[in-house]
Amino acid sequence: MSNIIACYPGTFDPITLGHLDVIKRATRLFSKLIIAVAESTKKNTWFTTKERLSLIKESVKEVNLDLDKVEIVSFNSLLVDFCKKKNIKVIVRGIRVVSDMEHEFGMAFLNRKLAPYIETIFLMPDEKYAYVSSSAVREIAFYGGSLSCFVTKCVEKALREKVKEIRRKINILKE
Ligand code: COA
Repeated sequence: MSNIIACYPGTFDPITLGHLDVIKRATRLFSKLIIAVAESTKKNTWFTTKERLSLIKESVKEVNLDLDKVEIVSFNSLLVDFCKKKNIKVIVRGIRVVSDMEHEFGMAFLNRKLAPYIETIFLMPDEKYAYVSSSAVREIAFYGGSLSCFVTKCVEKALREKVKEIRRKINILKE
């Protein structure tokens, strides 16, 4: 698969060690991996697109992944249109547990209908990340729980700062 450019799309709000594990596996398979950060999602994100991009860049460095093989960009369109523009033939998605499959298959089939020549492939992160998700990590951060098993140090720091900001806003609304 060496000359194939792949993309790993997601919201990454924020990036977790599970995402990074998928990125590590994908960089072994493809010559280049474009991490595609969805700007506009149905999700009400904690982090802005700029913050999410910079946390991915810092995290990729922190875990010593090959930055030369990785490009980190945002997109604000259909994923398949982004892929066409960048000449991407493979979409990588992570499957953690069986229940991910229903949602992932739906997206993969829709993307195939829209662009039949783009393949979606699924990679499994290490089982120690099977139950990690960005929303779980945000919730743990909100209640002050330990984050070191789930995110990089820079993401942990950013989450702690974000929680302070959110709690400040909540207190202002209460006054
Ligand atoms: N480690 C940790 N978490 C993981 C993970 C892993 N290996 N794999 C998946 N997840 C988590 C994600 O963090 C996310 O958690 P959250 O809901 O707690 O935030 C969840 O699993 C998957 O969320 P989902 O909404 O399916 O995907 P996403 O946020 O990663 O990205 C897009 C979805 C951006 C790829 C998709 O919406 C898209 O392509 N949008 C562009 C518009 C488009 O083309 N739409 C048509 C697509 S059919």
